[in-house]
Amino acid sequence: MLLPIPDVLTADQVLRARQILDEAEWVDGRVTAGHQSSRAKDNMQLSEGSPAARELGGMILAALEQNALFISAALPARVFPPLFNRYQGGQAFGTHVDNAIRQVTGTPHRIRTDLSATLFYTGPDEYEGGELVVEDTYGTHNVKLPAGHLILYPSTSLHHVRPVTRGARIASFFWIQSMIRDDGERTLLFDLDVAIQRINGGGNDPSTAVQLTGIYHNLLRRWADV
Ligand code: NI
Repeated sequence: MLLPIPDVLTADQVLRARQILDEAEWVDGRVTAGHQSSRAKDNMQLSEGSPAARELGGMILAALEQNALFISAALPARVFPPLFNRYQGGQAFGTHVDNAIRQVTGTPHRIRTDLSATLFYTGPDEYEGGELVVEDTYGTHNVKLPAGHLILYPSTSLHHVRPVTRGARIASFFWIQSMIRDDGERTLLFDLDVAIQRINGGGNDPSTAVQLTGIYHNLLRRWADV
């Protein structure tokens, strides 16, 4: 599932974060890349564990804990401390798949990356290029969201960031280990939750019945032996 989550941060939070990001010290992004992806990666990053990264990461994690759409879609067990990157002057990140397991730096903890997330700090009008391109069996999806919005996608996906040819693209990126490892199973639970919320909301939208019928058949397809 490729899911945009709007307004994870408020406009005021984006403004505060942008001030911190402008004053922070940036390093070569290859420091957190795996062997294969270090050859594809060309960007700048905030130092992991720096005061700026900690403050901004805390702001994101607190926002996500309150975000019903994120919780329903990700069913998070653990969230990796957010990292921050900046692309400008033609910088890009070539096609790669994120590492399956990530050590939380300076701790004995590891997380399995089930979902990848990008939270945008700069709006689409502030830079040219810089789309996050996610490939799946249905084709390629170009993602470029307003500041404060987040995109969630399966960490199994091939993806890349197109060159930024004007301005700067500043974002946070991190991973989620879900309570539900399998993307298909997690998507079924999310669809079911969306349908329940619609019914609880008192709406009489016929598309809810269609959605429930879809879930029924997708479960039947999973469990039936014929
Ligand atoms: Ni990646």
